[in-house]
Amino acid sequence: MSSPTPTTTCLPASGTNVNKAHLPENALVLAPTRQLQSLLTIIRDEKTQRTSDRIIRLLVEEGLNHLPVVPKKVITPVGQEYEGVSFQGRICGVSIMRAGEAMEAGLRDCCRSVRIGKILIQRDEETFQPKLFYAKLPDDISQRFVLLLDPMLATGGSCLKAIEVLIDHGVQEEKILFLNLIASPEGIKNVCTRFPKLRLITAWVDEGLDSNSYIVPGLGDFGDR
Ligand code: URA
Repeated sequence: MSSPTPTTTCLPASGTNVNKAHLPENALVLAPTRQLQSLLTIIRDEKTQRTSDRIIRLLVEEGLNHLPVVPKKVITPVGQEYEGVSFQGRICGVSIMRAGEAMEAGLRDCCRSVRIGKILIQRDEETFQPKLFYAKLPDDISQRFVLLLDPMLATGGSCLKAIEVLIDHGVQEEKILFLNLIASPEGIKNVCTRFPKLRLITAWVDEGLDSNSYIVPGLGDFGDR
């Protein structure tokens, strides 16, 4: 008796997620590898309560690739000189509460003693505009590169406000790296056109937003996952 033909979906090892021609120059999307697509499938599944830690780790690793380095020579244990590099300047993380706090552990995994600040933005009940409710940032943040953390980029309202807060604290726009799990095309456009010198790194660009400003297909409310 012949065994049943397995039903597998053979994704290309690395395909395309978005048409890169439509992305602003300062937006970068992780390569849509099979690993990334399977991790995203797990966290999007309404039947699972799995965390997004591994994707966050991929984002942080990619973010670190965009920091400047300076030449550094070391002597190896066999007495040879090695001309390497070391990161130039200090970094810190800033999470947009509350969802962004879920990305702090991934940053700490890569950068053990990294300073992490927090920003809480909520909608003003009278003006319906995003309003700053709380900010705790490192005193010397203006001297640092900032990895801004928020997993879901929908309209971009909170993110834009958070970036304004960073710039008000003296952070240079070009020293901001915004790390994000799932983005809407609208959110990317809003953030990247308003702040053309920052860099946005996302794991995936979804189709758009529904009437409640949820990302679709998305993963629902990140806080519930
Ligand atoms: N925040 C979420 O948690 N989910 C969305 O889809 C959009 C914003």
